Amino acid sequence: MQQTSPHPLSSLKLFLAGLYSGEGRPGGRDTAQALIAAATEPSGPLPVDTPPQVALDALATDAHPGREVIERALPHIAWTDASGAMPGLKPDWASGMLVNELLGPSGQFHHPSVRVGLFVQMPGFHYGLRTHPAEETYILLGGGSFWATNGDAPARRHTGEIIFHPSMIPHQTLTRDAPFIAAWRWSGDIAYEGYAAVETA
Ligand SMILES: [Fe+2]
Repeated sequence: MQQTSPHPLSSLKLFLAGLYSGEGRPGGRDTAQALIAAATEPSGPLPVDTPPQVALDALATDAHPGREVIERALPHIAWTDASGAMPGLKPDWASGMLVNELLGPSGQFHHPSVRVGLFVQMPGFHYGLRTHPAEETYILLGGGSFWATNGDAPARRHTGEIIFHPSMIPHQTLTRDAPFIAAWRWSGDIAYEGYAAVETA
């Protein structure tokens, strides 16, 4: 009997499930279960496109052991119009990022109560302080990034690190020479309408 290899997006879902099952929070476990269930869904028509160079560049720096799984999935990733999805996003922020909702209410695959996907930030970009009701966990998959909550000084974080933001905590993300790529998840109140930029003096 001929064996067919799993679709690259199914492999990505299982890979992300493995990452989030190791997070050690109920939201991470819920996300992992949703990803595993979605990995067996029929794929239907999927985008096939040339991967953004910035995503490949991010994966090539401080590379994650799962880099090949991500690279194989990239041509099938749908990048969303972040400014359209999130009314609270500052107009000049959208050009500094690529956002994918792989699974969620408006994702490539539907799930009613979690959002999870990939995120890429361009080099030399300051994604400023913002808040949202959802709790959030980024898992760094490549590149270089600096993170801070509240008014703290941004600190360099590395591939493989888990960055957790409780509901409504102000957080910001900076890049210097390199871009970065991460997995992200939202749990709890996951409405995009709750997302807001924090006005700073
Ligand atoms: Fe966030």
